[in-house]
Amino acid sequence: MTEFRFLKACRREPVDVTPVWIMRQAGRYLPEYQKIRGKNSFLTMCKTPELAAQVTLQPVERLGVDAAILFSDILIPVEAMGVPLEFHDGKGPQLGKAIRGQKDVDSLAVPDPAEKVPFVMEAIRILRKELDGKVPLIGFSGAPFTLASYIVEGGTSKNFVQLKKLMYQAPEVYRSLMSKIAKTVVLYLNAQIAAGAQAVQIFDTWAGVLTPGDYEEYALPYTRQVVSGLNRKGVPVIHFANDCATLLTAIKTLPIDVVAVDWRIPLDVAAMVVGPDKALQGNMDPTMLFHPPEKIDDCVRDVLRRGEKASSHIFNLGHGILPPTNPEHAIAMVEAVHRLGRKV
Ligand code: CP3
Repeated sequence: MTEFRFLKACRREPVDVTPVWIMRQAGRYLPEYQKIRGKNSFLTMCKTPELAAQVTLQPVERLGVDAAILFSDILIPVEAMGVPLEFHDGKGPQLGKAIRGQKDVDSLAVPDPAEKVPFVMEAIRILRKELDGKVPLIGFSGAPFTLASYIVEGGTSKNFVQLKKLMYQAPEVYRSLMSKIAKTVVLYLNAQIAAGAQAVQIFDTWAGVLTPGDYEEYALPYTRQVVSGLNRKGVPVIHFANDCATLLTAIKTLPIDVVAVDWRIPLDVAAMVVGPDKALQGNMDPTMLFHPPEKIDDCVRDVLRRGEKASSHIFNLGHGILPPTNPEHAIAMVEAVHRLGRKV
């Protein structure tokens, strides 16, 4: 069997063409997603394996990307820990209980994924059958720090005041929360791997709000606990932190295969900091897809050229694709990567 170029690139093996996929590739910019979303709530879609599988496949068919990523949300295991979760249009996620003290932390469970979120593993099993060797399937989880930010703030935040108060004023409560989340994430990712996820990505969306020193003290140990606890059996681990430029020297110490970077740092500079032992993923600015399609070639060429400085490169955006993006522009980007990223 010829190995998938995405998995080869994760392992820093030679590839024919630079592989490409897009964070949030299954989502609101696709009319075929909107059609299904028009009839179902977001959480219903996450919890119905057939629907989750269907929308996961949409960008694979429409864009010709080199990997599928499971349609779900990083907050699914948070709900399973015992925090009520709601999504209202335009408001982002809202959690029904703010965790602020030791009693609150003690009330949270470390859920058994097979019991609490069986729909996630079922979607993975359906997808492996339907993908039938076409492209590999990526599973994912939020990193402990980012999940803690939602659990403590009760939703998206700007300055993370509650979370930082907890960190600085009640560090033992913070640490017991982080340990519980890390244990939850280990079980959750291992269940995804056992169900058939062929790579996993850890999203640390809010890590960039920490100073490098605080990142090493308050976030990194728990991400390390997660990565060290995985039954990987050859499954590559990708780590994405948004706004990561100042954190790369810490992130590169993790036993991960791929460092995914946001668009704020040029990829050749990131390669210099990370060094040759890890592949890089990224990092075109998602707003560059608002250029006319004929300009997108230049944007792709620049990222590919800088990516040559990495020991291996997986093309992606530097963060999720934005809902107002024209799908034709995303297609133009994928096509440009496959044309300009040819190695043989
Ligand atoms: O990448 C993919 O295509 C896989 C699916 C995926 C979703 N969310 C689907 C989604 C993944 C990997 C995520 C991860 C996620 N969820 C993150 C980390 C990644 C990142 O972007 O940094 C975060 C922070 C969340 C929490 C979350 N979920 C937010 C902030 C939002 C947006 C709220 C809004 O209305 O803008 C969501 C909702 C969400 N997750 C949507 C999708 C397709 C939109 C839901 C809808 O259809 O209304």
